[in-house]
Amino acid sequence: MSDGAPAPLLTEVDHVAIAVADLEAAIDYYRRTFGVTPVHRERVESDGVEEALIAVAESYIQLVSPTRPDSPVAGFLERRGEGLHHVGYRVTDCAAALQAVREAGGRLIDEVPRPGSRGTTVAFVHPKGALGTLIELVQE
Ligand code: CO
Repeated sequence: MSDGAPAPLLTEVDHVAIAVADLEAAIDYYRRTFGVTPVHRERVESDGVEEALIAVAESYIQLVSPTRPDSPVAGFLERRGEGLHHVGYRVTDCAAALQAVREAGGRLIDEVPRPGSRGTTVAFVHPKGALGTLIELVQE
């Protein structure tokens, strides 16, 4: 492109994350309603969350619930209730994608990439400056 936009950086929708109060109840809802079950469960102590990943083709639905009151997801549930929390976009190079966001004037939550679940490398982009959407850049 000639307008200074980078080459396309997003290769796939990695996951759509939904904040839930009761992880077991949420898993049961998806099983009863859509016949799908988690392919991966993980507790991420650093983020204060427990998550369940349900595979849909090459992407995931990520059900995420807080494991402690000071978890950011606990705050989200208190303010907004259950619902869409963030969208994870798959990228080839998380650091390069983060740099592109920075150069475009975006507001970052993570200044450098960090470990995510499933052994991924991730970085979050602040919803303010990203059309109101919390964005997670996910490198497998
Ligand atoms: Co995520």
